[in-house]
Amino acid sequence: MKFDTILVLDFGGQYCHLIARRVREHEVYSEIVPYDITPNQIKVLGEKFNIKGMILSGGPSSIYEENAPRCSPDFFNLNIPILGLCYGHQLIAFFFGGKVEPARTKEYGISYAVVDSPRSLLKDLKENQKVWMSHGDTVYELPEEFEILAHTKNCPIAAFKHKEKPICGLQWHPEVIHTENGTAMLRNFVFEVCGCEPNWMMEDFVTRAINEVRRIVRNGRCVIGLSGGVDSSTATILASRAVGKNLAAVFVDHGFMREGEPDFIQNFFKKFDISFLSVDARRRFLHKLKGVTDPERKRKIIGEEFVRVFEEVAEKIEADYLMQGTIYPDRIESGFGKHSEKIKTHHNVAGLPTKIKFKEIVEPLRDLYKDEVRKVAEKLGLSKQIVQRQPFPGPGLAVRIIGEITQGKIDVVRKADRIVTEVIEAGKLNESLWQYFAVLTDSKTTGIKGDARAYGYTIAVRTLESKEAMTANFAKIPYEILEKISTRITNEIPEVTRVVYDITHKPPATIEWE
Ligand code: XMP
Repeated sequence: MKFDTILVLDFGGQYCHLIARRVREHEVYSEIVPYDITPNQIKVLGEKFNIKGMILSGGPSSIYEENAPRCSPDFFNLNIPILGLCYGHQLIAFFFGGKVEPARTKEYGISYAVVDSPRSLLKDLKENQKVWMSHGDTVYELPEEFEILAHTKNCPIAAFKHKEKPICGLQWHPEVIHTENGTAMLRNFVFEVCGCEPNWMMEDFVTRAINEVRRIVRNGRCVIGLSGGVDSSTATILASRAVGKNLAAVFVDHGFMREGEPDFIQNFFKKFDISFLSVDARRRFLHKLKGVTDPERKRKIIGEEFVRVFEEVAEKIEADYLMQGTIYPDRIESGFGKHSEKIKTHHNVAGLPTKIKFKEIVEPLRDLYKDEVRKVAEKLGLSKQIVQRQPFPGPGLAVRIIGEITQGKIDVVRKADRIVTEVIEAGKLNESLWQYFAVLTDSKTTGIKGDARAYGYTIAVRTLESKEAMTANFAKIPYEILEKISTRITNEIPEVTRVVYDITHKPPATIEWE
């Protein structure tokens, strides 16, 4: 079955994923593609998806810049509905001969739009709308064949539609939550303008994924790297439903797991009838990391060593197929990101460069976002303990120890992490937080312990609110909770003399310190 699909053309905007996710919240499938995709490539995609609309994303460029990204003008004649957002909105105006200029007054943040015509995208919306803007250029004039749907104080054409073709634009960002009725605007585009059917549902997904795995693997042997995170756990259960005893799940303990984690994972998966192999590789990893302080080198060494251990096991058990818990953002981020900078080398099983020749790599979750994976995990009957686990980086606590990693430091950060977890969970804050953890900084500071001078480590506490980790806010948790964390860490971990709270959003910081 082909799903009704909205393509999001990526012009380098930081909100591309948000657009796709927001579309999917309406049970309509959405796929991100590079802005320079050709009409021919769209035709090929059309064999797999029922393409009902395209959204041109925002982006950091100005359309008049040399090499400004532009999509094929042929798209405007395909009769596929098109919505331009921010840069996309300006690009449509530019293509049709409108006047786009640097904004006389730039708008960043909340703005108030006046709806001049509550139709099309803005159907049924009230006259005054709180919207979120972030733009340097503005559309000042449009040709006759367009009509204006809304304006703001500084932006005369903040929303428009073509009079005959299904083409429209919004200067603001309906995908960010600060645009109060952004969901309704996208819903209007998806259903009113594109006429999509809401048929992208997680119930069907499970059956489809199991059938797909069976069709590929048949009677072959399959191996999966199981870290205990929600992605690999979900992929493991899905795969075991599909191929039963022909699946082997391999847990590699690199020594940077949280307290009790290796046992928890082993015990948890014992309940399922899955062949589970645990490999103790702690000494190997620590040895490789001796003297290494550069964060990217650490990540690379851990990633490579992981692959080596995993390959040794896969070779021993003679696996034919490699199953991975790769999800959609992993795939997109390692794919075409022409306009996005590489920030850090994310390590997880995704992207294993395999020496071993597997017949095929199977990635049943490759089209899903994290929140969709959580829904699948629930459908598969995985308990809350797994479904609601915080995301945990592949290199584990190693990226939460600044500077050289030693066993002593691992022990300190592990204890601090346990305390943060216990206090947050006792305060019932865990369900509203995206992540909460401790970082061992490389600063030592003076303190007093038991009436004597002490010189010890500084622990940083980080707690965050986020929807998908692309952006995140530090959480404004109560001082009493912070006080409990700080008191317990300094009391229970003799090596620590100071606790600080990280009050940086992402961006500009990243979630993990390294
Ligand atoms: P950053 O630090 O890039 O993190 O803002 C974004 C999210 O990704 C998690 N993270 C990782 N996940 N392998 C993973 O599977 C990694 O190497 C990795 N590094 C960071 C991080 O915890 C946050 O949720």
